Amino acid sequence: MGENDQGATPPPIPSQTLDHISIAVPDLEAAAEFYRATFGAEVDDAIEIPEQGMRMAYVRLANAKIELMQPTDDASPVGKFIQRNPAGGIHHLCFATPDADQAATDAGAAGLRIVGGGAPKPGHHGRKLFFLHPKDAIGTLIEVEEEETPPRRI
Ligand code: CO
Repeated sequence: MGENDQGATPPPIPSQTLDHISIAVPDLEAAAEFYRATFGAEVDDAIEIPEQGMRMAYVRLANAKIELMQPTDDASPVGKFIQRNPAGGIHHLCFATPDADQAATDAGAAGLRIVGGGAPKPGHHGRKLFFLHPKDAIGTLIEVEEEETPPRRI
C-alpha cells in the first residue's frame, strides 16, 4: 500500500455486508407473527436487553436479518422513537465491517461523527459496534458492527 498503489483510497468503513435493518415496533409478538405469517420467515425468541430499555428478536433471512425492537422503557432511545412513531418504523441500518475499532478511528478521521463519541462498545451479542450520526449519513442512522467470526455451525 503506498503512492504507487493505483487502487482507490480505501473507504473508512469497508463493508460488503448489510447485517440487519432495525425496526422499532410497539408489540414484538405481533411483529414477529407478521413476518412469520406474511413471509414464512424464521423469527428468534425475544431477548430482554434491560440496559437499552428494550427487548428484541431477529427475523432471519438468507441475506440479512431484520431486528425487531420493542421498548420496555419509554425514556429509552427506542421508547422515544415509538412515542414519535406509534405504529413503529425503520430505526436504523447495520453494516458489518471486519474491524470496528479501525473503522471508528477512520470514520472519525474522515469527519464522520459517531453517536456518543468514543470507541465501539460491545452489543448484546458481544461484537463491537458504533453508530454514525444521521446528519453525516444522509438522514439515516447507520450502525456499524464487527463481522461475525466464522459461523459456529458445523
Ligand atoms: Co442494530
